[in-house]
Amino acid sequence: MIRKAKMDDVRIIHGLLMNRQEHDGLVLPRSFSQLYSHLRDFFVVVEDDKVVGCCALNIIWDDLAEIRSLVVLPEYRGRKFGRKLLEAALSEAVTLGIYTVYTLTEQTGFFAHLGFEQTAMDGLNQKVWADCLNCTRFPDLCNEVAMVLHL
Ligand SMILES: CC(C)(COP(=O)(O)OP(=O)(O)OC[C@H]1O[C@@H](n2cnc3c(N)ncnc32)[C@H](O)[C@@H]1OP(=O)(O)O)[C@@H](O)C(=O)NCCC(=O)NCCS
Repeated sequence: MIRKAKMDDVRIIHGLLMNRQEHDGLVLPRSFSQLYSHLRDFFVVVEDDKVVGCCALNIIWDDLAEIRSLVVLPEYRGRKFGRKLLEAALSEAVTLGIYTVYTLTEQTGFFAHLGFEQTAMDGLNQKVWADCLNCTRFPDLCNEVAMVLHL
């Protein structure tokens, strides 16, 4: 089941994003403070009575949102949970009136399969760069590619 995240999920989401073994370092860790203030961005997937994945839709500007923090526990991958989480976030973007969604990712195959296209960072809002400037991986440790989907 996919649902919006609740306060009770925060520690589990934090664990999903902090545990490098679970995502091979492909998602950025988030502090509890960031998770509390962005809790409403998050969807979770519940299976076997536990949260096994998450995904966030972060609003950037009036016409742009970012897909962030998409992780499914390794033992639950390949069961469409990643797709369903992403689709829930995209559906929310449309409900909000946002029709362009991007992600910064090393998982280009997954996102391309679901309709995203590679794009130049320069084409995105300047706020994206502001986030990059504050990232611990910027610039030398970053291998992420910008991908965009027009809904
Ligand atoms: C990326 C991730 C979320 C995918 O989750 P998942 O639940 O295994 O993916 P799904 O089962 O929903 O796959 C959905 C579709 O994408 C395809 N797909 C999955 N991974 C793919 C890849 N690397 N390349 C191409 N296609 C891929 C699947 O075959 C499936 O296709 P279908 O629906 O047409 O049958 C998961 O692998 C993960 O948590 N990875 C580590 C963290 C990460 O890299 N997150 C993204 C950072 S932005």
